[in-house]
Amino acid sequence: MIGVFDSGIGGLTVVRALLEQLPACDIVYLGDTARTPYGSKSPETVTRYALEDTRFLVDQGAEIIVAACNTASSVAVKSIQATYRLPVFEVIRPAVRRSLETSSGLRIGVIGTRTTVESGVYEKRIREHRPEARVYSCACPLLVPLIEEGWLTRPETRRIVKKYLIPLKVRQIDTLILGCTHYPLLSKTIQAKIGRRVTVIDSAAAVAADLHTFLGLPPRLADDPPSGGSLRLFVSDRTDQFEKTARMILGRKIPLEKIDGPL
Ligand code: DGL
Repeated sequence: MIGVFDSGIGGLTVVRALLEQLPACDIVYLGDTARTPYGSKSPETVTRYALEDTRFLVDQGAEIIVAACNTASSVAVKSIQATYRLPVFEVIRPAVRRSLETSSGLRIGVIGTRTTVESGVYEKRIREHRPEARVYSCACPLLVPLIEEGWLTRPETRRIVKKYLIPLKVRQIDTLILGCTHYPLLSKTIQAKIGRRVTVIDSAAAVAADLHTFLGLPPRLADDPPSGGSLRLFVSDRTDQFEKTARMILGRKIPLEKIDGPL
């Protein structure tokens, strides 16, 4: 069973990719909606939350963990691995790999939460491969709450996206990494505001491809059955809005199960 966690509902963008590429796998998801956002919390707090999220998933039977959260991926993966000794997949390396495959001029922008951007993890990993790359990062702390609220197409959201992207536009980036698993939900607005010449990268499909390879599964065929695996979605707090956002991401209604008590 694959256990996936995020601070909230945004990590379902990774679940969506897993369902497409690994439809026979059993998946259990935890969105820590009671404590979202993680992106404005200290690395120590995010690590503690990530360990508690992982404990919950392991108790549900997870044997592989996906940190579907850039913030947790940037500060907590080593602690998860050291504590649970399970395969742990994170979302940063796959996005870095894709960006290096795509970028023609190695002028790469990264948007993410404050904790992710301040960790400098994207710059570090990109430069490990291509020291000459120019990497420009920008924290966008207002986007996660707007997305969790379902404000995806509001004019206010479009204005805020535009404002956040101005410094990256000025730098003439050719590739933009969505360094937060919530941001694919704003990808249309982000693409419109950053311009059509910029390739926008998110890690969901790349993480799912890594898992597919890790599990040694045969390539998917067009006439393969659409599903077969089980899917359970847990949240630490449930509201109608979370239900709506989850339905929008997955394209179908799957009940959110509220966990009993604290994590
Ligand atoms: N989806 C999380 C990420 O990728 C959101 C972080 C947050 O809760 O602020 O970073």
